[in-house]
Amino acid sequence: MGAAHPLDMLTGDEVVAATEVLKAAGEMPEGAFLAHVVLDEPAKDALAAWKEGDPVVRVVRALIVPGPDLSLVEARVDVTNRTVIERAAVEGQRPALGMGEAVMAVFLTKEHPDYIAAMKKRGIEDLDNVQIDPWPAGAFGYDAEHGRRIARCISFLRENDADNGYARPIEGVIVHFDMGRGEVIEVIDHGVTPIPSAHARYDVDSVGPLRTAPKPLEITQPEGPSFTVTGNRIEWQKWSLRVSFDPYEGLVLHQIGYEDGGRVRPIVHRASIAEMVVPYGIPGELHGWKNAFDAGEWGLGRMTQSLELGCDCLGEITYLDATMANEQGEPWVVENAICLHEEDVGISWKHVDLWSGSHEVRRNRRLVISFIATVGNYEYGFYWYLYVDGTIQLEVKLTGIMSPMAFDPAGDPPEHAVVVAPGVAAPVHQHMFCARLDLDVDGAANRVEEIDVVAAPDGEANAWSNAFGPVATLLDREGMAQRSVEPSASRSWKVSNPAVRNGLGQPVAYKLNPHMSTPTLLAGPESSVARRATFARHNLWVTPYSPDERRPAGEYPNQSQGGEGLPTWTQADRPLTDTDVVLWYSFGVTHVPRPEDWPVMPVELTGFLLQPVGFFDRNPALDLPPPQDHCG
Ligand code: CO
Repeated sequence: MGAAHPLDMLTGDEVVAATEVLKAAGEMPEGAFLAHVVLDEPAKDALAAWKEGDPVVRVVRALIVPGPDLSLVEARVDVTNRTVIERAAVEGQRPALGMGEAVMAVFLTKEHPDYIAAMKKRGIEDLDNVQIDPWPAGAFGYDAEHGRRIARCISFLRENDADNGYARPIEGVIVHFDMGRGEVIEVIDHGVTPIPSAHARYDVDSVGPLRTAPKPLEITQPEGPSFTVTGNRIEWQKWSLRVSFDPYEGLVLHQIGYEDGGRVRPIVHRASIAEMVVPYGIPGELHGWKNAFDAGEWGLGRMTQSLELGCDCLGEITYLDATMANEQGEPWVVENAICLHEEDVGISWKHVDLWSGSHEVRRNRRLVISFIATVGNYEYGFYWYLYVDGTIQLEVKLTGIMSPMAFDPAGDPPEHAVVVAPGVAAPVHQHMFCARLDLDVDGAANRVEEIDVVAAPDGEANAWSNAFGPVATLLDREGMAQRSVEPSASRSWKVSNPAVRNGLGQPVAYKLNPHMSTPTLLAGPESSVARRATFARHNLWVTPYSPDERRPAGEYPNQSQGGEGLPTWTQADRPLTDTDVVLWYSFGVTHVPRPEDWPVMPVELTGFLLQPVGFFDRNPALDLPPPQDHCG
């Protein structure tokens, strides 16, 4: 064992130790499973006090699901000293959907006489080719939801194992499945809709003649990449950081700093996607309940797939594996889960002096740290970029297959959905992500200002009516720090440290730049999803750092009634100025499906930037050497 740093990634040995200790303590009764085993990251003060060479005591948090009821056990296990240091029963909450239970839902649904009858009514006798997707159920007041952890199962028809089932939704049949007890509660048949007949396969053999391939584009770095990886610590072009992997958040970045004047200046203490939700905008019992929390109910980490060199990632790639725990408490390693590489991104800066004709240009380059989660029908690629000019960016790439519905082509097409194939429509929906950004700009004590760039009032001081400029509003308390984007005002949020000044006497700062258009949640404030995913009702929330405030919709979003997380914490209206602040940025896309999104969707982008604002005294990329090999 023996971790070298408190933030080292969770290891298989630590998973094994945690399970052994829990079993020895009688915490794993027959039939129990582990929803997760994650590193219990040390509190910030403990981390700050830790010095290279100090002993490292590793603690994990385990969530035990003892049985089918809504009773959970949260345990903290010191895996260094092999002891349970804390255990707490949690009543009335549900873990994320169990993987084993989801598989059971698929098999046991197919054996239920009511389901067999519903399929027969639709002319489906052979259930081998029926694809069943268990979905998180949300909270809609069905009797079946009460006191149970359930999934709502919907069905699709495949021609064979390799077919794309989403071409043929089996409309109208919803199964309520008790995940804990492994039984079908009810099969609800809303009536038969014709099953579409066209296939929607996208493999080489199915798409017809292929276009002429473009000429080879080789990305080679004959001297290797410019970054170094030591354990989970990465160094590149003055940047340094650590990475880890969480079953719900996926990739987590820690302690992002930039070397400047001989010291590493902290910028971000911790950054991740802490939650996300996909609310569907179509009313009614068939699809109106679809509000998947793909982070909290499924898990962006748990759904991560191994990446393939030359396909997912091109060039000089370094992969990192992700170690999690399976539900039996054994190590579960996703190989090549995290991709590290450099990308040329055009120019960083350039000028031709027209007086002298002299020409200076520098190439821009970024370090890319990425992973891709496949959550059922959808893919989410998360790409963190660090640039040579001090900019940090998160770009999310959305692709995969839309979850569609069937309709009778003899009638009108459905509202709140777009026809993408004969008899197939894709409902409108949103993908709302919530990034938890614990910024420490040159230290923990920061303040957040909203910056709007607006026209100055007319008057003597603005006689030509041309004046405009930035107007800063201090977000002094949590109650006022629940904000939305305002593109017409170029709105950004500046996180500054007044105690540290740059060479011009200005407080050092980074700003959160929305950079791309983003909606907030469109569902009404009284809707189930607005209560449960309140984080998405505002683009920005700011809270003072608290180690237990990790998940913006609470620790247990599955079938939650809502109110947990940000809406609860911020009721205290805690002060924010010159405090260790955490930014919660909710962003995403409202997806009005296009025919071009079918059968598999071209990547759609969303994301944000973190840019230095007076963090440096001048362009920090001035010292880039000219690209001597090619020009100059
Ligand atoms: Co979409």
